[in-house]
Amino acid sequence: MSGFDFSRAGFPADFLFGTATSSYQIEGHGFGKAGRTHWDDFAATPGNVVRAEDGARACDHYRHWAQDLDLIADAGLDIYRFSTSWARVMPEGRGAVNAEGLDFYDRLVDGMLARGLKPALTLYHWELPSPLADLGGWRNRDIADWFADYTQVLCKRLGDRIWSAAPINEPWCVGWLSHFMGQHAPGLRDIRAAARAMHHIGLAHGRAIQVMRDLNMSNLGAVCNFEYTLPLTDSAEDRAAAARYDGIYNRWFLGAMFKGAYPEDVLEGLGPHMPQGWQDDMDLIRQPLDWLGLNYYTCKRIAHAPGAWPNLSEHIGNLPQTQMGWEICPEGLHHFLHFARDNYTGDLPLYVTENGMANPDTPQVPDTARIDYLNRHIAQARRAITEGVPLKGYIIWSLMDNYEWSLGYEKRFGLVHVDFETLQRQPKASYHALRAALARN
Ligand code: NOJ
Repeated sequence: MSGFDFSRAGFPADFLFGTATSSYQIEGHGFGKAGRTHWDDFAATPGNVVRAEDGARACDHYRHWAQDLDLIADAGLDIYRFSTSWARVMPEGRGAVNAEGLDFYDRLVDGMLARGLKPALTLYHWELPSPLADLGGWRNRDIADWFADYTQVLCKRLGDRIWSAAPINEPWCVGWLSHFMGQHAPGLRDIRAAARAMHHIGLAHGRAIQVMRDLNMSNLGAVCNFEYTLPLTDSAEDRAAAARYDGIYNRWFLGAMFKGAYPEDVLEGLGPHMPQGWQDDMDLIRQPLDWLGLNYYTCKRIAHAPGAWPNLSEHIGNLPQTQMGWEICPEGLHHFLHFARDNYTGDLPLYVTENGMANPDTPQVPDTARIDYLNRHIAQARRAITEGVPLKGYIIWSLMDNYEWSLGYEKRFGLVHVDFETLQRQPKASYHALRAALARN
């Protein structure tokens, strides 16, 4: 497919398009006196990350930021969803502030505004300062206070120019993937650690929202990720296992943030490992929010497995896959837009805050697979809008190829190709096609 089959005119007049990145994945953490993070430590430990790659240089966005913002604006996009690094702002995680770090984000936000872009801030996209990891990181309840302090410092400086803000990107990854599955920093496989993290994330979210409200910031929300969960077979056992997976992945944080209650079926497994008195925190976690962001990529087939709770195994089905090995399953996006609206958010605006695919792109080969992937997902988004879902924007992951965490630099999600030797940026066919679609009115 050589072009998109949508145009702006096919969406409501106030519908917004954007693209997303995150600090550790693009900035180059070796620059500008940023503090060490648990991702640097995780990557330095053999076996965790492909080729032990880390974010020390990444796309060197720290020095190429103006060029990168030009690319976003030239595409005709409205929103730039970016994140700030806690360790760049406060290298020890607490106390001393790195003036260079705050200045960098100050310039960056002004740069967005100068180009007519709406700055959509995420305060935590996974790079925890190492000194806080030493204190237990997300396992330590005090993280809610540390995070509130960082939010205060950062937002006091930037808050007056931020279009929207969300505290924590993809809580499931921060909690479950990192503390139960061991696939992201700090690489734990420990249900007690996971239960604590899964709770303290909500607490930190609630505190950060309070801090930002006190600073008179508006348009505050949450960004959660969703995986369309299908039972591997139709057996009652597999269906029950799929429901457990769905609960942990898709319902835990929405329940806490929008209803002040964790799902009962997940508590059956996590309950015994939760920190004492967690029930008293639920009101704090459920702060009034202005929107929900959904990150969506794929579906997962789940089977029953023997062993300890949650007794399940994950499987990949027969649909075509991306470079990540993820099945392409656009109707899952449609499912979750309805699911969120019907069960949690009602009339609240929804945004697709991430959607996109990795592909082994070279500048010579047009990335038609990405155009097709995005086209099919955008069609599902539009379908939901016509059915009355208050979806207000669609944000593509990612502006440019970057550090794909434990998979290093090989998995390319960008609309723009990055040569990691020369750092040269080169817009791909999907970038040009998007620009044309957005210009069509
Ligand atoms: C979700 C994360 O927010 C982002 O950091 C990651 O690169 C993409 N998904 C792709 O895996």
